[in-house]
Amino acid sequence: MEPQRALARVNVAAIERNCARLRGELPGDGGLCAVVKADGYGHGAAQSARAALAGGASWLAVVSGEEALELRRAGIADARVLVMGALTVAELEQAVAAGAEVVAWHERHVRALAAAGGGRVHVKLDTGMGRLGTRDAVEASRVAGAAQQAAGVELVGLMTHFATADELDDEGFFEQQLAAFTRWADELRGRQPGLRAHAANSAALLREPRSHFDAVRCGVAIYGMDPFGRDPDARGLEPALELSSYVAEVKACAAGQSAGYGRRFIAERDTYLAVLPIGYGDGWRRGLSNNADVLIGGRRYPLVGTVSMDNVTIDLGPREDAMQLLGERATLIGRQDAERITAEEVARRLGTINYEVTCALTPRVCRAYHRDGMSLVATAAAPSA
Ligand SMILES: Cc1ncc(COP(=O)(O)O)c(C=O)c1O
Repeated sequence: MEPQRALARVNVAAIERNCARLRGELPGDGGLCAVVKADGYGHGAAQSARAALAGGASWLAVVSGEEALELRRAGIADARVLVMGALTVAELEQAVAAGAEVVAWHERHVRALAAAGGGRVHVKLDTGMGRLGTRDAVEASRVAGAAQQAAGVELVGLMTHFATADELDDEGFFEQQLAAFTRWADELRGRQPGLRAHAANSAALLREPRSHFDAVRCGVAIYGMDPFGRDPDARGLEPALELSSYVAEVKACAAGQSAGYGRRFIAERDTYLAVLPIGYGDGWRRGLSNNADVLIGGRRYPLVGTVSMDNVTIDLGPREDAMQLLGERATLIGRQDAERITAEEVARRLGTINYEVTCALTPRVCRAYHRDGMSLVATAAAPSA
């Protein structure tokens, strides 16, 4: 295959298998909602959504009306889509136009939905995240009542979101949130049994079966990343995305010579440097300067010097055959032979979370989709936002 300067290859079969594996944690009637916001955490929203549905997800979640419309424009016509974010009137109209379900926590949200043409709504209780939703269970019940009364509006769900599901040492905060939601949801479901309660994200799904209720909303784990920032293998999750570039140049670098902006790398011995044409303009963050490894020819090499917008430099060492690596594929996230670099490793180096590593990949990175190695569509640069 012709080398690509910045290529994210996404294995849709891995997303399918991850969804099937997560679905297996749920009771027979438990629903898996696949969260494909932010362009499927950088993996491609429509492709990820299709794979998730094929893997057993029964609905999809995004954050804006535009993201819901994007799924419809991509031909995902029938799947239930939940828009989880705060919406302006214009965004609410987009969500309604997409036939998506929305979230309410004030009576004014219900009135706005009715005015926009109506649709299905989920009421959100803020049990401790402190963002969207009302902290007041009485108000949340009042909003649910308003939704039941409003013309054209159908109350279908009750939800909350955990702040510390991924932090096992959270001094009981997760349990407090769970207890508060359970109290409220049980009371309302007692009165209207058809309502679906949903609270769990990926971490909660894997951590606590009592958080599963009628459905779970999973993002990070469907892409095969570990919600706890550990090795995804340990939980049977399969990373779906590989990021690669290629060796565009190999040059000798004598002891004392430097590479990159600010001369943050000065060779201590005669060595060879590889130049990969990928940089922070692709989402390979500048914080990885002198702080990452890449795989070339099945071996790990250190990234040296400053990550620039379009290039990085790699220390190949004083090997005789360095020039022969010209044109070789370089893996920044993914496997080569026995070696592997995970999004979790990159995140640890950056002091962030795996979510941010894949979300950071910019439209300049070509996305290519495959099924266990079988190419699905021609490689094309993602349209710029
Ligand atoms: C409201 C809500 N539910 C579910 C999710 C999915 O979370 P995760 O990717 O940790 O599974 C998110 C993502 O941030 C979210 O904002």
